[in-house]
Amino acid sequence: MDIRVKTTQATSQKSACLIVAIHEKRQLSPSAKALDSLCNKRISNLVKKGDFDGKLGHTWLLDNPDGIPAERIMLVGCGSKKKLNIKTYRKMHGHILNALKKTNIKDATLYTAELEIKDTSTADKIRHASEAILETSYSFDELKSSHKKTITLKNITFNIENKRDLPKAQQALKTATAIATGMDIARRLGNLPGNICTPNYLAKQATNQAKSCKKTKVTVLGEAEMKKLKMGSLLSVSKGSRQPPKLIVIEYKGGKAKDKPYVLVGKGVTFDTGGISLKPGAAMDEMKFDMCGAAGVIGTMAAVSKLQLGINVVAIVPSVENMPDGAASRPGDIVTSMSGQTIEILNTDAEGRLILCDALTYAEKFNPKTVIDTATLTGACVVALGSHCSAVLSNNDKLAQELLNAGSTSGDRTWQMPLWEDYQDQLKSNFADMANIGGREAGTITAACFLARFTKKYKWAHLDIAGVAWHSGARKGATGRPVPLLTQYLMNQT
Ligand code: BES
Ligand code: MN
Ligand code: ZN
Repeated sequence: MDIRVKTTQATSQKSACLIVAIHEKRQLSPSAKALDSLCNKRISNLVKKGDFDGKLGHTWLLDNPDGIPAERIMLVGCGSKKKLNIKTYRKMHGHILNALKKTNIKDATLYTAELEIKDTSTADKIRHASEAILETSYSFDELKSSHKKTITLKNITFNIENKRDLPKAQQALKTATAIATGMDIARRLGNLPGNICTPNYLAKQATNQAKSCKKTKVTVLGEAEMKKLKMGSLLSVSKGSRQPPKLIVIEYKGGKAKDKPYVLVGKGVTFDTGGISLKPGAAMDEMKFDMCGAAGVIGTMAAVSKLQLGINVVAIVPSVENMPDGAASRPGDIVTSMSGQTIEILNTDAEGRLILCDALTYAEKFNPKTVIDTATLTGACVVALGSHCSAVLSNNDKLAQELLNAGSTSGDRTWQMPLWEDYQDQLKSNFADMANIGGREAGTITAACFLARFTKKYKWAHLDIAGVAWHSGARKGATGRPVPLLTQYLMNQT
C-alpha cells in the first residue's frame, strides 16, 4: 500500500473515495461541509435522518455523489470533539481501513488531518493515522493453504490544508512507514510457530534482512563460539533442546566510525516450555511469542536502516529453545556465567534472565553509549501493568526518562518500576553467587535486579514487554511492540 500527502481540496479531488469526518453531535468537519454544499446536501440530510451517528469509527458509504469528481464519499465518525485524542484518532483510522477492506476501492483520499487534536501538529496526525492504517492492513496467512486475503486498496492520500506543513508531513510519513515495516517483521517472526521459527531461523532472517542495507552487518555465533566465550548461563538453557543456540549480532553503522553505539538486546526464546520446571498446559502455545524481544530488536534494526539514522546501533539476540530433556538443566544446578558470577538455577522456567545475562556481558565489548534489553520476561509484569504498557527499569534515571518520553511520543507506552538495592536480597543463594528467582514478591523487579548484576559497566535499561508483545484470545497474535518505542528512542538520539 502506498501512502501520500497532498494539498488538494475535497471539492476538486478526483478519487474512488473521499473520506470525511462527522462528529458525534452531527457536526460536519470542514471538508464534509464543503462537499455537502456541492452535492445537494446529501451528507447533512443523511445525518439529520439519524442514519449516521458520528460515533467513533462508524462508517457510511455514499455512492455516485453529484456535483463532485469523486466516485464515492465515505463518512467516518470521529466521536465527541472533546474526547478526540491521538489514541481515538488512531482507532478511527483502523476502522477506516477495515471499512475499505470490505469494498473494491483502489484509492482513497482522506480529509482526517483537518480534525483538531490538542497539542498535535499536522505531521503528528499524519504519522499516527498512517501507522494505524498500516498496522490494520497487516495479516498473517502465509501458513494457510488457501484463502489468502488480498487488499484491493492500493493508494491512500492524505490531504492537508497548508502547503507549509508538507515537508514535515512527508517526513512523518517516512517515519510511519519505517516503523510499520519494522512492526510487520516483528509480528511475522512472533506469529511463526516454534517448529519453524527456531534460533537458526531467526539468525537466517537477520542475515537476509541485512543484505538490503550496506550499513548493516550480521554475525552469528554458534554453540562452539559461545562455549569459548564461557557463556555457561546461556548454554545451560539450550542444552535441553535439539535446536542449537545462536547469538545473533546485527551492527548498523550510520554514524562516525568512532561514535559509541546504542546497543539493543532482545530475548529470543523461540519456545518456552519452562524446561524441567515445566509450565502448565493451558495456553502454552503462546510461549512461541517468547522471542518477541528478539523480534522487536530485529524489526527495529529494519526501521533504523530504512530511516538511515545517523547513529551506530548494535542488536544482540541470544536465541535458544527451552525444553525438558535428559540433557536439560535441573533445579538446583549451578552454572557459571560469562561474567564469572555463579548462578543457582532454582527454576528452569526463569530462563530469560539466564540467556540475557551472558548477552549483556557480551555487550560490553561494543563500548556502548547505552544498552536497552527487551524481553517477555515475567508473568508478574502482566499482573502488575496489564497489557497497556511495558515496564522500564534502569540504572540511569535519564535513560529511563528518555524511554518514558519515547513511549508517549510513539504511543508505545512504558512505565517505570523501581530497581532499588533493597530487592537484591531476594536473590540470595546458599550455594552460588545468586539464585535465578527471587520468590513470589515483585517478580518483575527481582528479574531486573538479576540483570542489573551484569550491567554495572554501562548505562542500561530493561523493558519487560510480557504484557504488550502479543494479544491473546480472538485477536491472538504478535503486536509488533516495542518497535515503535525503540525506534522513537533511537530517532531522538539523532
Ligand atoms: N516467558 C516467561 C514469562 C511470561 C509468562 C511472559 C507468561 C508472558 C506470559 C518467562 O520465561 C517465565 O517463565 N517467567 C517466570 C519466572 C518465574 C519462574 C520466576 C514467570 O513469570 O512465571
Ligand atoms: Mn520461562
Ligand atoms: Zn520465557
